[in-house]
Amino acid sequence: MEIVICPDAVQAGRLGADAITTLIRRKPDGVLGLATGSSPLGIYDELARRHEAGELSFANARGFTLDEYVGLATEHPETYHNVIRKDFVNRVDFADGAVRGPDGLSDDIPAFCRSYEEAIAAAGGIDLQILGIGTDGHIGFNEPGSSLASRTRIKTLTKQTRIDNARFFGGDIDQVPTHCITQGLGTIMAARHVVLVASGHGKAEAVHQLAEGSVSAMWPGTILQHHPHVTVLLDEAAASRLQLSDYYRETYHAKPAWQGL
Ligand code: F6R
Repeated sequence: MEIVICPDAVQAGRLGADAITTLIRRKPDGVLGLATGSSPLGIYDELARRHEAGELSFANARGFTLDEYVGLATEHPETYHNVIRKDFVNRVDFADGAVRGPDGLSDDIPAFCRSYEEAIAAAGGIDLQILGIGTDGHIGFNEPGSSLASRTRIKTLTKQTRIDNARFFGGDIDQVPTHCITQGLGTIMAARHVVLVASGHGKAEAVHQLAEGSVSAMWPGTILQHHPHVTVLLDEAAASRLQLSDYYRETYHAKPAWQGL
């Protein structure tokens, strides 16, 4: 797991965008795993800027979103289907239908979840998965207690996650759905490269556990310690509880340029 401590979230976003730019230039039909929420916005803003500047095209790329609320109406602005379009997909040139997401209105959720896994496999698997992390350590919506081998399925959101996400629902926790469909930890682990981005003091404990805690379902992101290629992009505040922060800084600064991210 490579930990990169950036001066701020803008720089973290640029590095995340660099990783995706490198992938899409090498493999124009690359498959992206897309997180929603605040954390990846810096990455999406920078990718949209590069696209607008004519530097990067997603015309042949494909994407799968990580998760979706269950039960929100199709036109609700906070479905992750709508959020990822507003924040990223509609700002670049993905082909119609190239970015898919879980169907939170499916009337057969287990069957849908199986079909989502099959669709990811049929696309050749995810080349680069972008992740945020919850204050309780969730990745995707794999809340504490999730099976470390889980695949796409329905989950119940913790109260903490609903409190954290109430800001997207007018501050009213009762408007935040109780259930979601999320790629599982096993699904995320199958991605070839995982780029996790976190900023702010609120994420500092989850980031410390992610990188330095014991692997445990209590901090679901810790499963990434078993992944061979994880890049963690942090601002100073999110890095503030790391025990080995000096070592991570030295390692990154001394890194041979040819290694990339
Ligand atoms: C979103 C997702 C979640 C978020 C996490 C952090 O698709 O899967 O794991 O990444 O809840 O949310 P933000 O980035 O809003 O702090």
